[in-house]
Amino acid sequence: MAKHHIKLKINGVPQEADVDSRLLLVHLLRDSLRLTGTHIGCDTTHCGACTVLLDGEPVKSCTVLAVQADGGEVMTVEGLEQNGALNPIQEGFHEEHGLQCGYCTPGMMITGYALLKRTPNPSEGEIRHAISGNLCRCTGYVNIVKSIQYAAAKQR
Ligand code: FES
Ligand code: FES
Repeated sequence: MAKHHIKLKINGVPQEADVDSRLLLVHLLRDSLRLTGTHIGCDTTHCGACTVLLDGEPVKSCTVLAVQADGGEVMTVEGLEQNGALNPIQEGFHEEHGLQCGYCTPGMMITGYALLKRTPNPSEGEIRHAISGNLCRCTGYVNIVKSIQYAAAKQR
């Protein structure tokens, strides 16, 4: 198995690693870097629990090879908090009870964060469309939508 030396920024911190060609980004994050906030729910690109930002775009990190992130910037759920202050999207999930078991929550928050970056005042339909690649088995989505609406209002 070929090894590749990759360099990337993760949550603003430069990182280097020697990775197998087949290593998935989610495994680099969780197993090598111990950033276990990014979850694995399916391995088939369905659930979105593994969603991270790669160069500002949400991607399912179980479907991206670590080598594809070489030279890029990755943001995981651990990167939302800044200097001890929660990001409005994190506050929203707390205030609006946007989770039950919490398994989908990191991916939901990253997807919501990315949505608000490009659409600061989304309609309910736009929120539901944005999170359509993120599955939640617990909440029925109502409070997840409210959580993202909370963050949008907080950022205005
Ligand atoms: S673990 Fe990546 S989409 Fe489910
Ligand atoms: S809160 Fe349990 S899967 Fe979403």
